[in-house]
Amino acid sequence: MFWLGNRIPITSFLSTTLYLAAGELYIEELGSVLWTSGSATNGSTRSVAVLLNTGNFVVRDQINHSKVVWQSFDHPADALLPGAWLGLDVATGAHISLTLSKPPYHCTLVIDQSRKMGFVMSIDGHDHLGTFPDGMVTYEEGSLVRLNYPENPNDIQFMRLHMGQVSLLRWVNNATITGWQPLWSYPSSCKISAFYCGAFSACTSAGTCACIDGFRPSDPDEWRLGQFVSGCSRIIPSDCEDGISTDSFVLLDNVQGLPANPQDTREETSEDCQVACLNQCYCVAYSYDLSGCKIWYDVLLNLTFGNSAIHHAKISMRIAHGKRQQGRIQHVMLVIGPIVVGLLIMLVIFWVYKISSRQTKVDDFLAVYTYTQLKRATRNFSDKLGEGGFGSVFKGTVAGPTAVAVKKLKSFGHRDKQFRAEVQTLGLIQHTNLVRLFGFCSEGARRLLVYEYMPNGSLDSHLFSSGTSVLSWSLRRRIAIGIAKGLSYLHEECRDCIIHCDIKPENILLDAEFCPKIADFGMAKLLRRDMSTALTTLRGTIGYLAPEWVYGQPITHKADVYSFVVVLLELFSGRRATGNGNHQYFPLYAAAKVNEGDVLCLLDGRLRGEGNAKELDVACRVACWCIQDDEIHRPSMGQVVRMLEGAVDVELPPIPTSFQNIMDEGDSGTYSAEV
Ligand SMILES: *[C@@H]1O[C@H](CO)[C@@H](O)[C@H](O)[C@H]1NC(C)=O
Ligand SMILES: *[C@@H]1O[C@H](CO)[C@@H](O)[C@H](O)[C@H]1NC(C)=O
Ligand SMILES: *[C@@H]1O[C@H](CO)[C@@H](O)[C@H](O)[C@H]1NC(C)=O
Ligand SMILES: *[C@@H]1O[C@H](CO)[C@@H](O)[C@H](O)[C@H]1NC(C)=O
Repeated sequence: MFWLGNRIPITSFLSTTLYLAAGELYIEELGSVLWTSGSATNGSTRSVAVLLNTGNFVVRDQINHSKVVWQSFDHPADALLPGAWLGLDVATGAHISLTLSKPPYHCTLVIDQSRKMGFVMSIDGHDHLGTFPDGMVTYEEGSLVRLNYPENPNDIQFMRLHMGQVSLLRWVNNATITGWQPLWSYPSSCKISAFYCGAFSACTSAGTCACIDGFRPSDPDEWRLGQFVSGCSRIIPSDCEDGISTDSFVLLDNVQGLPANPQDTREETSEDCQVACLNQCYCVAYSYDLSGCKIWYDVLLNLTFGNSAIHHAKISMRIAHGKRQQGRIQHVMLVIGPIVVGLLIMLVIFWVYKISSRQTKVDDFLAVYTYTQLKRATRNFSDKLGEGGFGSVFKGTVAGPTAVAVKKLKSFGHRDKQFRAEVQTLGLIQHTNLVRLFGFCSEGARRLLVYEYMPNGSLDSHLFSSGTSVLSWSLRRRIAIGIAKGLSYLHEECRDCIIHCDIKPENILLDAEFCPKIADFGMAKLLRRDMSTALTTLRGTIGYLAPEWVYGQPITHKADVYSFVVVLLELFSGRRATGNGNHQYFPLYAAAKVNEGDVLCLLDGRLRGEGNAKELDVACRVACWCIQDDEIHRPSMGQVVRMLEGAVDVELPPIPTSFQNIMDEGDSGTYSAEV
């Protein structure tokens, strides 16, 4: 962040304004001022606010441009753009430094006046003295230090402080790698501060970061470029809900010192300590020794592995089920190994035979299957689960035996390498509400994707077909929130944001517990190079498309927000939003009912009135916000999640005018016009 106000979060971008009055900037939300620049000129000059090409946002005199009354470069947060400065500003007396606050941790970088090119980086109160390399910064009058512009004007660079490390970063984007590459970092070895290894990663005796067992880099490109900020994530997700968990623990016994921020608890035995951790889904590790029971929540940071046998702490890491079984097999092997060597050799031979006959290799994190394997796994593609725009889906079984859904993609002009690269990025995207990609096959012109199998099929089969059991109100609400969370993850939390572009009940799958999982994400991206294919396939689901699709405007993630709402309304009403028998455009009809205060009539008849009127009203209000004409008025999926969960109040939205027009033109059926 190159500039930070006062850390008071804006809760609703829909009702927030930034304005300039008498030389002072204001951020105002719903009439109350959240932040001011405190630079009032009392009308003595006429001021303007300008965002300069350097990235500096300045308030200055309209005529004399060198009279600057306020500028964002004087208030950096944790990052510095070329041309920006740090240190003591003699003119104003302000000390300008970089700060990073991730409670409970705090990290700052302050210019050290006593040493040439020196600075002090302080991590949670521990100071480390560093120096900038030659050519990176320039001393200005007083003691301001300015970050130099890159030598090559085409380079994009900036300096960033993250937890435990400061780096000068350059953007690289070539055929093999995309991301920020560190040109210089302090410290350069994690032995000085293991914080920068990120979550669930540890500093090894060689001074580099490595994921702990059962974890892998959250962002492999970042690791390849030599930064570890985003740390590691679980290979097998932890299985824990409402304190009920099948996870187990593995012991790390070569840890030097304990990771940062343990919480002491009163458990008095090792077993109680373990149970206390297991029963709390956010607990990631525990340690029990003479000083008692310590528990870590959410993340492990500042972890260092030692190479000598002294002063080692023991930590038990929470590990998901799959990992534990692997660990057991290995243990058993160690015990029986010396006794029955012959048997072991036979076993190995058997394994080698089995592996070579399977020929499955793992390409980074995804399994790569041969076409023959998948043909066998699906018994020659005999059990068809469905057919969509991108191809047909078949049920199959792969080694395990794990039930999978194999999607045979219709051929599209993708080179093998491109396809692999795209699929690899999809494989990294994992969330409870997204269908998990296990692997793929790319052979000749054949492209297949292997997904986890969802026993309860797609949402549409439960909503619109008679003969299935009726989904209860609370289940529907849970499904709605789940879909919203999945989308919010795709839009806001993944590294490369993904617009789904085809949200509809057919693409929402339900697992054995009816937890919703979004399917087909990333397809639009996979097909990006052949947009005409994407448009042809999407034509079928036009009822879910936002107006900007129809009018040919650029698509943003707000298009998904729009489609989500159509699904939301269908979920609660049990009716298709478009198509047979609907004389009115359904989202608009719902909007009108919200305004009339009569939402219960929207409820699915099969529920026989068994719904929660208040929750339904909230959902309908959210729906109405999401179909606003101008996409900037539609909330983000993150905001939608909070609204649906009841964490924020939802005002009564206006009825969108374009739908009013569509209504006036008569039948809503005409809405399915040309793309
Ligand atoms: C601005 O004007 C008000 C009222 O005239 C005065 O009280 C205040 O001191 C002035 N502030 C500055 C910064 O000149
Ligand atoms: C413009 O403002 C600067 C800084 O306040 C001042 O030094 C300079 O004399 C001003 N120039 C004119 C033409 O007024
Ligand atoms: C891509 O950039 C990286 C980092 O700068 C470099 O090591 C690599 O050689 C580049 N690859 C190509 C194909 O240019
Ligand atoms: C981080 O780890 C180092 C080395 O083990 C230790 O000296 C330091 O106190 C730790 N910092 C925090 C905040 O736990």
